[in-house]
Amino acid sequence: MDLEGPIGDIRRQLAAALAKASSDQENEDLRVQLLGRKGVLTGLLRGLKDLPANERGAAGQALNALKEEVEAKLAAARAGLRDRERMERLQREWVDITLDAGRRPTGNLHPSSRIQYEIEDVFTSMGFEVLDGPHVETEFFNFEALNIPADHPARDMQDTFYLEDGNLLRTHTSPIQVRGMQRLSPPFKIIGPGRVFRCERIDASHEATFHQLEGMMVDRDIKVAHLIYFMKELLRRVFRRDVEVRLRPGYFPFVEPGFELDVRCLICGGKGCSVCKGAGWVEVLPCGMVHPNVLRHGRVDPAQFSGFAFGLGLDRLVQMKYGIDDIRHIHGADLRFLGQFR
Ligand code: PHE
Repeated sequence: MDLEGPIGDIRRQLAAALAKASSDQENEDLRVQLLGRKGVLTGLLRGLKDLPANERGAAGQALNALKEEVEAKLAAARAGLRDRERMERLQREWVDITLDAGRRPTGNLHPSSRIQYEIEDVFTSMGFEVLDGPHVETEFFNFEALNIPADHPARDMQDTFYLEDGNLLRTHTSPIQVRGMQRLSPPFKIIGPGRVFRCERIDASHEATFHQLEGMMVDRDIKVAHLIYFMKELLRRVFRRDVEVRLRPGYFPFVEPGFELDVRCLICGGKGCSVCKGAGWVEVLPCGMVHPNVLRHGRVDPAQFSGFAFGLGLDRLVQMKYGIDDIRHIHGADLRFLGQFR
């Protein structure tokens, strides 16, 4: 039997069909046409048994080789289709991940950080330098140097967490004053924002961890008038309006005289409300003239220089500025709360 004709035909038919085929279905149809039960190639293979014995071997080899060739070409064509589909899908679904930043949810500054940076801007614009200090302090910097010796009752008002090595978690940012004085020589103006710690009973206005911002100015002839000027300027710029302030005597061992600076309540304008507890004034800023002993611990000569200092409660200020009724929200890490400060 002459197989060359039919084999050539099948090859051509296959090549032509595969060139056009663009789906799995067409590929399958082609397989059935050639290799199905009634397929052309199947028919030829079936006819082998009718050949004379001396021709059967060669013909069988040729046809089986063709069958393998057809199967391989169909499989390769199917794989080609897979690749093409995948490429098309990649094209269709391609996204530029560098372009969608605006759609992804982004975080925002914590209200305490926001106020801190705002106040840093206010003070640096007036020539103050921003200093930092450690959370873990020595007794010297937190108490002794601030005129609070070991047996002084003022230590009771600032109970804190003591470490086994005798150091403690700072109770206020005032140690930054002392570190600042030791490092700089007058005249200088500094602020020191940071986290502070106290062993407190926690309620709506007290936390065991909170934030303060210390400030200090040292020069010749610094007076209470300088203190008042800077405090008013600070409050005016934070609250974006003129505020009325008053000074009351306040006791802090490291200042003399010491004051509590109150602001006319921003919520009720002084008529009395829940925020000022009916008083019309809110206490925001403990401050005073730096005690000579403190200047000496900072290696500043009190005969030549004087200064003022203040300690601002940042979280309290956040509460006032945004009307937050409970300080515990501030460190509560609740995104429903924090997300409001965009
Ligand atoms: N360090 C004081 C406190 O935390 C506040 C203060 C600072 C008072 C500076 C006067 C001067 O209570």
